[in-house]
Amino acid sequence: MATLKEKRTCGQRCEDFGRFVWNSDNGTFMGRTPEKWVYISLYYVAFYVVMTALFSLAIYVLMYTLNPYAPDYQDRLKSPGVMVWPDTYGEEVIEITYNTSNKASWMKMSNILHKFLGPYNDTKQSECNYYNCTKGKYFIQKTFSAPHHTKWACPFKQSMLGPCSGLEDPTFGYNCTMPCVVIKMNRIIDFLPSNSTNLPPYVNCTILEGHDNVAKIEYFPDNGIMDLSYFPYYGILAQPTYVNPLVAVRFSLVGERQAKIQCRVVSKKISYENFHDPYEGKVIFYLKALK
Ligand SMILES: *[C@@H]1O[C@H](CO)[C@@H](O)[C@H](O)[C@H]1NC(C)=O
Ligand SMILES: *[C@@H]1O[C@H](CO)[C@@H](O)[C@H](O)[C@H]1NC(C)=O
Ligand SMILES: *[C@@H]1O[C@H](CO)[C@@H](O)[C@H](O)[C@H]1NC(C)=O
Ligand SMILES: *[C@@H]1O[C@H](CO)[C@@H](O)[C@H](O)[C@H]1NC(C)=O
Ligand SMILES: *[C@@H]1O[C@H](CO)[C@@H](O)[C@H](O)[C@H]1NC(C)=O
Ligand SMILES: *[C@@H]1O[C@H](CO)[C@@H](O)[C@H](O)[C@H]1NC(C)=O
Repeated sequence: MATLKEKRTCGQRCEDFGRFVWNSDNGTFMGRTPEKWVYISLYYVAFYVVMTALFSLAIYVLMYTLNPYAPDYQDRLKSPGVMVWPDTYGEEVIEITYNTSNKASWMKMSNILHKFLGPYNDTKQSECNYYNCTKGKYFIQKTFSAPHHTKWACPFKQSMLGPCSGLEDPTFGYNCTMPCVVIKMNRIIDFLPSNSTNLPPYVNCTILEGHDNVAKIEYFPDNGIMDLSYFPYYGILAQPTYVNPLVAVRFSLVGERQAKIQCRVVSKKISYENFHDPYEGKVIFYLKALK
């Protein structure tokens, strides 16, 4: 069939194309009259105006219904996870191992704790969280009455960790056999650890292995309590100065100076037996003081 087609030279093709772009015979430009081109342009202008309007409306409605202070989807996290510092990880398990007679070894641990407690510096806390919170009660805030349209956050000062604050003993007990660890519970927006008003969550550490190697367990603040005034948390935009309450635990190691320890944050609403999340409500770690 191709042979029936008239062979055309390149020059002829160019001429055809030229005629297509501007055909002086019937006054068309690219196959259409200028008048038609105006209509086509108007059509597209109108089309994009309508599209832009629709798009803007959709974005506006979405923004209007979003709460800027809380993520929309957080139903996956119902019960908070628990972490321990110094956060030194071995293979899969947390191993807090240090050598009492090696300064570099225990300095590593105390440096981690000093760094972690940086935001809890007493001076810093009294500057940015100066609201007088009422202890023992949930700090429910319906309005944004703190500066810059935010909510108040209660101060948690390093000194509240007493002998484990790093203030009296900058080694946190790592130069001997009384190491301190710090327990922190993850924040969950709007989470209340219990629904009856006066039972705060507290940390309870138990020895899983090596009972004979731990002579004493001490909690700071007293009884390992996380005060209710730190709950609920309203989110980083609503409470930019919020700091998690902490509990420090001091272990007096004796004998073989090693133990497997579980620290649980005990509260009605905090579960700790989630097979899929071993850090939910508790943390398990190995503590070992070499010499
Ligand atoms: C602990 O540190 C001392 C001094 O650096 C060293 O002699 C000793 O072997 C270390 N112990 C262990 C178990 O590594
Ligand atoms: C806390 O901060 C103040 C002022 O920034 C500083 O002088 C002080 O050394 C800090 N304290 C600790 C324990 O880091
Ligand atoms: C908090 O209480 C202290 C002493 O009880 C007082 O000096 C301070 O002004 C109070 N601060 C606020 C913000 O009410
Ligand atoms: C550990 O450090 C503290 C504070 O610096 C000190 O009082 C204590 O004597 C030290 N302990 C040992 C065993 O070096
Ligand atoms: C606390 O919650 C439980 C179930 O979650 C409910 O049965 C109980 O009535 C609540 N108590 C109060 C004081 O709200
Ligand atoms: C801490 O946990 C242990 C083991 O579950 C339990 O026997 C003990 O009573 C608990 N202590 C407190 C203060 O809840």
